[in-house]
Formats: sequence, structure tokens, C-alpha cells
Amino acid sequence: MLVITMASRKGGVGKSSCARALAVQALIDGMRTAIIDADPQGTVLAWAKRREAKAPAVYSLEGSTLEGRLESLQKASADLVVIDTPPSIHPIIGMAAQASDLVLVVTGPYPDDLSAIGSTVQIAKGQGRRGGIILNRTPSKAAALQLARGALAVFDLPICPTAIVQRVAHPYSSSEGMTAQEWEPGGSAAKEVEELWRWTKALLGIKAVEVAEATP
Ligand SMILES: Nc1ncnc2c1ncn2[C@@H]1O[C@H](COP(=O)(O)OP(=O)(O)OP(=O)(O)O)[C@@H](O)[C@H]1O
Ligand SMILES: [Mg+2]
Repeated sequence: MLVITMASRKGGVGKSSCARALAVQALIDGMRTAIIDADPQGTVLAWAKRREAKAPAVYSLEGSTLEGRLESLQKASADLVVIDTPPSIHPIIGMAAQASDLVLVVTGPYPDDLSAIGSTVQIAKGQGRRGGIILNRTPSKAAALQLARGALAVFDLPICPTAIVQRVAHPYSSSEGMTAQEWEPGGSAAKEVEELWRWTKALLGIKAVEVAEATP
């Protein structure tokens, strides 16, 4: 079972959106996938309630520790677990990172966003975990992105070559308990998420997966 933690100290950068998008893309890829919503705001849990499809299974940490939840998902033969975390440097993020194969730090492209990510990167690195950076809610203009990529180089982590552009497909799909790929298959947002997933798989070292029959 592979585990990814989504993290960023800054709020509203798209941790929960990217967590859902990656989990759904992994499902499409045939992986038995679950999300642990470790954020007391319960953004992903609320999304799951709006969602018609049963998968991915979404769990809170109410009545369970992170370790306990991961153990039961392992027993249920999950292939992939995505942990969504709160916007802070709360200890749960260190615990999630420690339990993960990969920590993905989500950030916007502007100086106010970028200046906040150092502490999150340190959490990933401090746990000796593989990390990566996702640029989300970006303009489609290349100049802003080039500046952001330059500023992020200091962290010496892989940066997803595909930035996730600010597009209404993300909030609109969320309002229906879906992701952009489901809401507008083949659209620009969907293509970006597919590329994000391809990059994530490479970081996880996933080559081929068998088609799953059920969701844990
Ligand atoms: N690429 C995008 N384009 C447009 N809107 C986006 C994009 N990514 C996220 N959003 C929207 O931005 C808002 C915040 O996103 P999200 O809840 O995923 O951020 P977050 O980092 O998880 O927030 P928090 O720190 O509060 O947990 C949501 O309304 C979401 O739909
Ligand atoms: Mg969130």
C-alpha cells in the first residue's frame, strides 16, 4: 500500500482539491484508493457526502488514530491512501509524513504563497520522506510560473512540470461531489490532473497496476 500526504502551511492553496483529484485519477487507473481526511475542517468528508459514487472511500480520524486507520486500510488491501492535512504545521502533518511514501506540498505561484512553504518542506525532509511540489491555482501565463519555479528551486524538490491552472472546473465539480476529470472529461483541467497523476506515479515508482474490483 502506498501513502501520499498532501500538505501546506498556507490555507486555500488546493490541498484538498489535489487530494481528491489524485485519488480519483488513481481509481480511474484501477487502484483501490481511499482518502483520510485528517483536517478538522472536513473538506473532503463534506465532498464525499455530496458525491454519488462510493469510491474513493473517505475516512475521518474520529474514533481512530492515523496509525490504526492506515492499518485497517492495509488489511482491506488498499493500493493507495491519500492523506489530506490541515493548513498548519500541526503535529498530525509530521505523523502523516512519517507514515507516507511521498509528501506533496501544494502551493500557489505568488510570493505570499511561496514564502510560506519552507516549514512544510522541512516537515517532509525532516521525516526523510520523498517530496514534491505542486503549483496550483496558477495563471496560464508562463512568466509568473517561471518566477515561481525559480523561487522554488531552493528547496531542491521535484516540481510537477504541469501546473494546475485556476479553472472553474475545480470548484464547480466539487459542488457536485466530483472532480474536474469526472465533470469535464478531456477538458483542460482534466488533462492537467492526468499529467499530475503521471508525475506522482513516477515519484512513487508505480509502473503498472492491476485493475481493482472493489474499493476498500
Ligand atoms: N486549480 C484550481 N482552480 C480553481 N479553483 C481551485 C483550484 N484548486 C482549488 N480551488 C478552489 O480553491 C478553494 C480552496 O481549495 P482547497 O479547499 O482544495 O484548498 P486547501 O488548501 O485544502 O484549503 P485548506 O487550507 O482550507 O484546507 C476551493 O474552493 C477549491 O475549489
Ligand atoms: Mg483542505
